[in-house]
Amino acid sequence: HQAKLTLDPAFKVAPVRRRTFGTFVEHLGRCVYTGIYEPGHPSADEDGFRGDVLDLTRELGVSTVRYPGGNFVSGYRWEDGVGPVDQRPRRLDLAWHSTETNEVGVDEFVRWCRKAGAEPMMALNLGTRGIEAALDLLEYCNHPSGTALSDQRIANGSKEPHGIRMWCLGNEMDGPWQTGHKTAHEYGRLAAETARAMRMVDPSLELVACGSSSSSMPTFGAWEATVLEEAYDVVDYISCHAYYEEKDGDLGSFLACSTDMEYFIRSVVATADSVGARLKSRKRIDISFDEWNVWYLSRFQNAAPPADWPVAPRLLEDHYHLADAVAFGGLLITLLRNSDRVTAASLAQLVNVIAPIVTEPGGRAWRQTTFHPFAQASRLAAGDVLRVEPVSPSYETAQFGEVPLLHAVATHSEEGTTLFAVNRSTDGPLSLEIDTRALGGARIVEATTLTDADVYARNTADDPDRIAPRAKPDVEQDPARVLLPPVSWNVIRLA
Ligand code: AHR
Repeated sequence: HQAKLTLDPAFKVAPVRRRTFGTFVEHLGRCVYTGIYEPGHPSADEDGFRGDVLDLTRELGVSTVRYPGGNFVSGYRWEDGVGPVDQRPRRLDLAWHSTETNEVGVDEFVRWCRKAGAEPMMALNLGTRGIEAALDLLEYCNHPSGTALSDQRIANGSKEPHGIRMWCLGNEMDGPWQTGHKTAHEYGRLAAETARAMRMVDPSLELVACGSSSSSMPTFGAWEATVLEEAYDVVDYISCHAYYEEKDGDLGSFLACSTDMEYFIRSVVATADSVGARLKSRKRIDISFDEWNVWYLSRFQNAAPPADWPVAPRLLEDHYHLADAVAFGGLLITLLRNSDRVTAASLAQLVNVIAPIVTEPGGRAWRQTTFHPFAQASRLAAGDVLRVEPVSPSYETAQFGEVPLLHAVATHSEEGTTLFAVNRSTDGPLSLEIDTRALGGARIVEATTLTDADVYARNTADDPDRIAPRAKPDVEQDPARVLLPPVSWNVIRLA
């Protein structure tokens, strides 16, 4: 197969948004307990945070971290998680049929974020709670001092305000599985009134209204329109959530799953802009794609729920193979390609729960296959996102019809240009010619590929680097040309 694309700094889409490289920590399974937090672990610090996980989080290049859910947040009382740890209540977590010990709460989470060099992004409970609890949490977190709740935070050991800028107005409120699930109209009103009240405290907050839990929700499209009709003036973002998996052995469709993400983004942008037009508003609503990943949801749905309200059970612990990482890389490329409107995103999740980082309690932490596309893109995407105008052969998929074999995006800064490219072909390499004429003599200075002869190969505790980016020897200059192996994620740097 042969393909071509053009790198031209004039084809700007938008600046690279650091918040594209956000992740998510939910009180779910072992994401918090034995994930980020495990006092007694050999690498634990004075706060009980695992040092190995902190190191890997920094290496992953995480910008924001959404917390504490997810479905969990819709039954959460934030007050349970502050103050002396030995006095915190244990509660039933209805979302995950688990027991929440509350050893970690908002103060610990913000402390962990500071150590990880990440920005906290807080989700509010608009399922079982509402405006008052949202305002209380905002005052607790962000007010400097001199009020009941800000002084409580200081007494609990956080003298400085947490300064949380981004707030999610609930989670997946369109989903019947959500505690306190609402109609679009009910939710739109609550989101708007919560946002208005929060802006009375601080007009500069960045607020995210819940969009659809997937593009296949029955209310998709209508939900966004109704919610934004109520909340357009007082929110900044509408959220999108999407998870993909290989179904019935259809690898071709799975590798093309970013086609759905692209459709999702375009549809939500069109819906938001049409509400804006009807409201005669010049304001633009952006997308916070605040849950995305490969997730073998059908396996989870088919498993029996845990019967006895366990603490930090093994839930949603998907172990990703090479093909998962390539599909994942395609999703990341789609997020970057849409950086004009997708200005924040959160990979769901960070540790153990459908995550790029895996730990064993008391033992090792290692990188899943999906760690690598994320870490490379976060490290190397800089400056502006460029359109690359690929010309590529296509293939037929059962789910999405004709799809190009090549999926790519580039970024450009004074330091150079980086191309991120996926070859979706399962049957052969793709010879890619890169038109670099507009780059004034730039040459390929580095090229890596993530691939394997076995597309279902995984990393394990004993073989943690089986799947990792390897330098590509087969690079040609003048004209620049690289060979992308079948089912591969590739990063090519030019300077
Ligand atoms: O990330 C796992 C779950 O997926 C989240 O709790 C929920 O918001 C979504 O359905």
